[in-house]
Amino acid sequence: MTRVVKFGVIGAGLMGREFASAAARWLHLNDTKARPEIVAVCDLNPELTGWFSAHVPSVKLVTDDYKALLADPEVEAVYCAVPHNLHDQMYPEILTAGKHLFGEKPFGIDAAANAKIQATIEAHPELVVRCSSEMPYYPGAQKVINLARAGDLGEIIEVEAAFLHSSDMNPDKPINWKRMVDVNGAYGCMGDLGMHVLHVPLRMGWRPSRVSAALVNRFRNRPDGKGGTVPCQTWDNATITGHVEDAGGGFPLVLKTWRIAPGHSNTWSIRVLGTRKSAYFTTQSPRQWQWMDYDGGAQVWQVEDLGFQTLFPAITGGIFEFGFADAMQQMWAAYLDELAGGDAKGFGCVTPQEAADHHAILTAALTAGTRNTVEEVVYG
Ligand SMILES: NC(=O)c1ccc[n+]([C@@H]2O[C@H](COP(=O)([O-])OP(=O)(O)OC[C@H]3O[C@@H](n4cnc5c(N)ncnc54)[C@H](O)[C@@H]3O)[C@@H](O)[C@H]2O)c1
Repeated sequence: MTRVVKFGVIGAGLMGREFASAAARWLHLNDTKARPEIVAVCDLNPELTGWFSAHVPSVKLVTDDYKALLADPEVEAVYCAVPHNLHDQMYPEILTAGKHLFGEKPFGIDAAANAKIQATIEAHPELVVRCSSEMPYYPGAQKVINLARAGDLGEIIEVEAAFLHSSDMNPDKPINWKRMVDVNGAYGCMGDLGMHVLHVPLRMGWRPSRVSAALVNRFRNRPDGKGGTVPCQTWDNATITGHVEDAGGGFPLVLKTWRIAPGHSNTWSIRVLGTRKSAYFTTQSPRQWQWMDYDGGAQVWQVEDLGFQTLFPAITGGIFEFGFADAMQQMWAAYLDELAGGDAKGFGCVTPQEAADHHAILTAALTAGTRNTVEEVVYG
């Protein structure tokens, strides 16, 4: 029988509502070990909690005080999707209250905040804790991952993982918390997008030993939304080049986290180039993946049209399209599966260790980018 896991949601903004949507159409998935039921919601904004009351009939507790949500004995697990400066306050309290945690990235505004969260996680091994990153659940991304896992790439020449979007293309867009250093963090775009680009490389064991970084702050001022202008100090774009050691002398791991990417709305991509096999997936062509076999003859990239061939099977016909909301639901299925004792069908959500490793990389990249140096990555 499918286990029901009762959830509280802290932060009912963009991502909190994505979870509500994924949970509401759980019937989309075939044969899951567990399903989420949202019973409590917390946000400071009554319009957003009102949205939950109107659309999620299972919600019984509506509050603007997250401690009240944590005191609710019915809540077994918490999804926390709040601004970065609140992660190291709320995540440890969620765990101390005995709730499983699905936390949003970057899992702490900086490495020190992440270390505080990590310490509480270690004190609660009975709780299932994971960090959000949905893009690798696209079927084409899974194809690239499986090809890389098969281990017959030959020597790796380069891996590039990118998240290119255009949220900040318009210089007239008023500033919001994602552009404020004290709320979003000194990492800037790297804190927003770094976990997305590092989930697959870290899962594959491609951990850079040293990094350099080109950081761009293109728009240094933004409208304040009240008729004035304020400084905008967060990094807009970062291109990080890491060096991954291997038996053959190593290879570059290029990570692009861009919030000003002309021509892109929200493009996540991964490209793995090897001497025998290469592979590429981009959400710009969400149904397709590409690969190339090289045996000394012609270099021909092949393209496969995939359709809805997901890790967690669904009612959608195999020839149909997969999209962002589906990736969210697949990620949630992976977390619920692990909560119910499964193995997430071989590709689980970001672990706390991977989140900590990503902080080590971003911390080194921030230093490298601001000082124009090459920095060793110090893993915990
Ligand atoms: N996985 C993804 O693809 C993805 C995408 C966007 C954002 N995120 C992450 O999700 C998190 C939230 O981002 P968002 O885009 O949903 O932001 P958002 O601004 O839309 O939502 C955040 C919500 O937190 C609420 N909040 C702030 N302080 C609070 C408090 N003390 N108690 C209760 N609620 C409080 C705000 O009122 C707001 O509604 C961030 O960590 C961000 O990095 C992840």
